[in-house]
Amino acid sequence: MSLLEFQNVSFYDDDKIILKNILVSIEKDDFISIVGPSGSGKSTFLKLCSHLISPTNGNIIFKGKNFTDYSPTELRKSIAYCFQTPYLFGDTVMENINFPFFIRNVKIDHQKVNDLFPMFHMTTDYLNKNTKNLSGGEKQRIALIRSLLFKPEILLLDEITSALDVENAKTVENVIASLNNEGITILWITHNLEQSRRYANKLLTIENSEVRSLEVLK
Ligand SMILES: Nc1ncnc2c1ncn2[C@@H]1O[C@H](COP(=O)(O)OP(=O)(O)OP(=O)(O)O)[C@@H](O)[C@H]1O
Ligand SMILES: [Mg+2]
Repeated sequence: MSLLEFQNVSFYDDDKIILKNILVSIEKDDFISIVGPSGSGKSTFLKLCSHLISPTNGNIIFKGKNFTDYSPTELRKSIAYCFQTPYLFGDTVMENINFPFFIRNVKIDHQKVNDLFPMFHMTTDYLNKNTKNLSGGEKQRIALIRSLLFKPEILLLDEITSALDVENAKTVENVIASLNNEGITILWITHNLEQSRRYANKLLTIENSEVRSLEVLK
């Protein structure tokens, strides 16, 4: 049984076709890089994977059960999506870091927080910073840390290194690769072709609202 399966999924906005007849199976432990021209439908594909939007036609099956048979909260805990434009809320970084604990009704685990920041070349001094004053690359990494406080089964990454320098991008790549080794399934949109092939076992190309190919890399 596949972990996540798209069965002829289409997504339309009014009359505009944004994705059509997507037929893809994602296996547990996959590390799939997603590439394709701007506007081809890549982010829309991840939004469907994370249940942020629902198919116009077709079904999405997660662990043998239709998405529509899960509660949105259940899916949100299992499938995490890091947006192309990092979305932070409230005033401080702390509010963002606290949020995953808050929604699960558990006390903040300071050890977990203290462990995660240095993995991304950051210190916990950031906790008291105002989110408005963060750089694009800092926002990307805070959003990523927020998604990793509780490990999802599937991690969806939408160009999360676009605002990072080469060094920091490599660091993020290494963390993601080690998460994949721990058993987290990764779907990663990138415009960087070198990056797309470095750790991925499959390369999904989306073009013109359709899956052009799903190439097995290793
Ligand atoms: N909810 C929506 N309503 C209307 N149009 C949309 C909606 N979502 C996406 N689109 C359009 O669908 C197309 C695909 O968008 P999408 O964001 O998936 O592209 P992308 O492949 O991620 O592009 P990029 O590489 O630039 O991020 C674009 O033309 C976009 O404007
Ligand atoms: Mg996009």
